[in-house]
Amino acid sequence: MKHIFTALLFLALISCGNSDESHTKKASASKTNASGISDFELKNGIGPVKEEVKLGALNQTLVNSGKAVFELNCSACHKTSERYVGPQLDDMLTRRTPTYLMNMMLNPDEMIKKHPEGKKMFAQFLTPMPKQNITLEQARSIVEYIRTVQK
Ligand code: HEC
Repeated sequence: MKHIFTALLFLALISCGNSDESHTKKASASKTNASGISDFELKNGIGPVKEEVKLGALNQTLVNSGKAVFELNCSACHKTSERYVGPQLDDMLTRRTPTYLMNMMLNPDEMIKKHPEGKKMFAQFLTPMPKQNITLEQARSIVEYIRTVQK
């Protein structure tokens, strides 16, 4: 009886060990760089935008609505060409992908906690950007507006 019990315990241990291993393998497949996030996230930020946003020809209607949303929700902290509570707009697209900007707009809490670039920005600005109540479409329109103020 005791032997059977030991054998069962042994089997249980082996199978636990195995499932642990497959867990680690899965995790390492999606976390592919030293910062513990995927390559996609490293380039494009962590947040609801999971596919790279490609910019086409400038869409003036989108620019106008983006500008309005920006003025209402963001201009208290961001200026076009000088550092304020947050970083200036006029070099954002030379430093970041449009997708990165959108993920930062939509998910700032996680970005400044988990993303190496987000952490760096927070270390520089020392104010956590608060999550704004904007939609994905609004975030996209703000990117269109930001395009028009690049130096
Ligand atoms: C209360 C101030 C505040 C408000 C309001 C705010 N931000 Fe920010 N934002 C910051 C700060 C500060 C940072 C730098 C990161 C940090 O410290 O959290 C930042 C960072 C960013 C970044 C990342 C820039 C980069 O180069 O990595 C983007 C994009 C951004 N903000 C866009 C917006 C948009 C769009 C809005 C409005 C929907 C907005 N922010 C509202 C303070 C603010």
